[in-house]
Amino acid sequence: MQQEASASGTPLEVVVLAAGKGTRMRSSLPKVMHLLAGKPMLHHVLDKAQALNATAMHVVVGHQAERVEAETPYPANWVLQKEQLGTGHAMMQVAPHLEDGSLVLVLYGDVPLVSEATLARCVESAAAGKLALITAVFSDPAALGRIVRSSDGAIKAIVEYKDATAEQRCIEEINSGILAVGAAELKQMLKRITNENAQQEYYLTDIVELAVSDGLNVEGIVAERPEEVTGVNDRVQLSELERIHQLDLATELQRAGVTVADPARIDIRGRVIAGQDVFIDANVVFEGEVVLEDGASVGPHTFIRNARIQRGARVEPNSTVDGATLGPQSSVGPFARIRPGTELAEGVKIGNFVETKKARIGAGSKASHLTYLGDVTIGIDCNIGAGTVTCNYDGINKHKTEIGDDVFVGTNSTLVAPLTLGNGAFVAAGSTITNNLGDGDLGVGRGKQRNIQGWTRPDKRKQRS
Ligand code: UD1
Ligand code: CA
Repeated sequence: MQQEASASGTPLEVVVLAAGKGTRMRSSLPKVMHLLAGKPMLHHVLDKAQALNATAMHVVVGHQAERVEAETPYPANWVLQKEQLGTGHAMMQVAPHLEDGSLVLVLYGDVPLVSEATLARCVESAAAGKLALITAVFSDPAALGRIVRSSDGAIKAIVEYKDATAEQRCIEEINSGILAVGAAELKQMLKRITNENAQQEYYLTDIVELAVSDGLNVEGIVAERPEEVTGVNDRVQLSELERIHQLDLATELQRAGVTVADPARIDIRGRVIAGQDVFIDANVVFEGEVVLEDGASVGPHTFIRNARIQRGARVEPNSTVDGATLGPQSSVGPFARIRPGTELAEGVKIGNFVETKKARIGAGSKASHLTYLGDVTIGIDCNIGAGTVTCNYDGINKHKTEIGDDVFVGTNSTLVAPLTLGNGAFVAAGSTITNNLGDGDLGVGRGKQRNIQGWTRPDKRKQRS
C-alpha cells in the first residue's frame, strides 16, 4: 500500500460500500461485479481511490462477499457487513478500522463514473474541516435522497425519499451518497445514528443533520455532470452508463487526433493508445491493451484485443486480431482471423479467410486467401497460395513449419510439420509436402495426372428411357 497522502498532507482512507444485493440486476453475479467497459464496476471505483493516493481502501462487502473479494485483486481491507441494515450500519462496521487523524472518503461500488476531479474537490473541502457531500441536480430525481437547504442556501439535512414530505420530494438537488469528512468526527456522529425512519435502516445521511447541530460546516459539491454520480440499479441503467462512458472514451480519441467514424459505435474494454491520423470505422470492439500507431486504419465490424497495429497498417472489415503485432503498412482481412503469437513484419498481406496462429511472417510476404498458418515462421517475399494448410498437429503434439525467404507455395498445398522449406523453394500446386525442401528445390507431392481417351460418359437421357 502506498504511504502517500491527500493533497493537504492528511492521510486519506477510502471506504467503498458494496454489500448490497442488487436485486434488480436479477443476476447470480453480485451487482458491483457487473462489467462496465469490460471491467467490474467495483474495480472502476477502486482505480479512482488509487488515483487519489489513498493510504487505505476499505471495502464493505456482504452479499457474496467471498466472490467479490476473490475477483478483486486490489490491496483492500475487506470488511464484512453480515446484514445490510443501511449505509450508516455499513460505515459502523468500518469505523474501528479508521485512523482518527485521517480524512475519510465514502464511495459506492455501484457508482462507477464519478470523476477524479469531482472527488478531489470533495476531499479538498473535507481537508478544510468540512463535511463535504457530492450532490447533483436531476430534473426527475426519482427515489434518491434530497438535499434540504435553508433560505440562505446552507445545507440543513438529507431526507430520504421515503421519509420526505410532498414538498421535499419536489427538490431537484439530490444526494449522490459520496461524501468526505474527518475520521474522528465521522466516528462520533456514527455513534448517534438510529434506525427510526420509514425503512428502519441506519442512514449514513443522518450525519448531515448531526454535523449541522454540532456546528460542523457542511459543503455541497455539485457534480459537473449528473451522469458521474448516477448509480446502477438494473441492467438498463448499466447500459446507459456504458454508452456515456464509451462516448467519453471516443471523444478522448477524437481529441487526440483519431477519426472515429461513429463515436456511438465503438467499444473500448481496456485501453487504446493511438497515434495521429488513425481511422476507426463503425462497430469496432477493442479489448485489453491496443496500440494503433500513426496512420493505422481499423475497418468496420472488427474485434481487436491486445494488439499493436503499426504505422499505416490496415485491419480490413470483419476481421479479428488477438494477441498480435501487425507490422508497418501490413494488412489483414477482410474476414481474417489473426490469433495470438502472430507477428507480421512490414508490408505483409494476409487476405480473406486466412487464419494465423503463432505465425512470424517476414516483410513483403503474402497469404491472400483461404489459408491456415499455425506454428510457422515465414521469411521475406514469400507467396503462400490459396488453400495452403500447415498441418501443425498430429493429435498429440504441435510441430513447426519453417519457411525461408522468397518461397512460393502453390495453391491447395498441405505442409505436414515438422517441415523446413529452404530459401527460394517452390511447392507445386496441390502438393502434400512431408519432406524438407532444400534451397531452390521444387517439391511436387501429388498423384500424376492420367488421361483416359474414349471413355463413356454417363448419359442422363439414356437413364430416363
Ligand atoms: C443512498 C442514500 C441516498 C442517495 C442514494 C444514492 C442513504 C440512507 N441514502 O440511498 O440519499 O440518494 O444512496 O444512490 O445513505 N450498502 C451497503 N450496506 C447497506 C446498504 C447499502 O453496503 O446496508 C451499499 C450498497 O451496496 C450501495 C450503496 O451502499 O453500493 C447504496 O445503497 P442503496 O441501497 O443503493 O442506497 P439507498 O439507501 O437507496
Ligand atoms: Ca441505490
